[in-house]
Amino acid sequence: MRAAISTPREPQSRLSQRLSQSAGTRALSVRGVRLTVDLQGEGSTVLFVHGFPLDRTMWRPLASMLTGRLRLAPDLRVVEHQTVDSRASSMSELADDLAVVLDTLEIEKAVLCGHSMGGYVAFEMLRRHPQRLNGLILCNTRAEADSADEREARDEMAALVRHFGTSSVVERMLPKLLAPSSIEALPQVVEHVEAMISRNHAEGIIDALGAMKHRADSKDLLSTIRVRTLVLAGAHDQVIPVERSRAVAAAIPGAQFTVIPEAGHLAPLEEPVATSRVLGEFLAALD
Ligand code: MLT
Repeated sequence: MRAAISTPREPQSRLSQRLSQSAGTRALSVRGVRLTVDLQGEGSTVLFVHGFPLDRTMWRPLASMLTGRLRLAPDLRVVEHQTVDSRASSMSELADDLAVVLDTLEIEKAVLCGHSMGGYVAFEMLRRHPQRLNGLILCNTRAEADSADEREARDEMAALVRHFGTSSVVERMLPKLLAPSSIEALPQVVEHVEAMISRNHAEGIIDALGAMKHRADSKDLLSTIRVRTLVLAGAHDQVIPVERSRAVAAAIPGAQFTVIPEAGHLAPLEEPVATSRVLGEFLAALD
């Protein structure tokens, strides 16, 4: 763990106190779209950013265990159907949405916890809105931009979705997202993942694929990160192997690196108890 860098926590705003009393699901108007947000608890804020092709509910099991804080999990604008002029084409647009979510809820700073694509959005938050973050948790993510082969694979998946719809993504991605042991032993998690993917609108999936394909390389950004950072990996992650996450942690000054033993790419959902323990300790040290 890094020792020297710490950021004072902001006092909880009156609005977030009111929000905590009416915790649940809210719809916020954000830069021309309505984004659904899960809100729970009170105290300092953790902003959870979901991965692809999932939604805010991926955080529910984990967030329910992290008591003593305001837990905020929005859907990104790529989840729901959007009009042509409000569709997203870049990670920076998704990061700008998050800044407006925080503005709308009168939250000055948050610990940002991003999963996979949510980590790519976190890198854009660091570039565009660094003053809004007082801590960083990167789950199952990586810093490098797509290779030529990976870009080609994005185009193939976009073509598949155009022709066969969202169900083609379920078939293709589910076996990669979860560890084989999770697929066998956790039917409710399999069901949850299928439901999240199916909720994603085909156009949103295509937008997210485009935004990931064109995202900036963030390797050089890592050494400039000045907030306390926790990097989490799943021992059986087939999308982002442990070594890639380890490389992210090694490049961030003082970052903590933890591998969740039984998990695949969806550590927060496959192993919420183990993941919440690690996050809870990290957040307590930040406090
Ligand atoms: C994700 O889980 O968000 C994506 O699979 C990441 C990626 O495809 O690069």
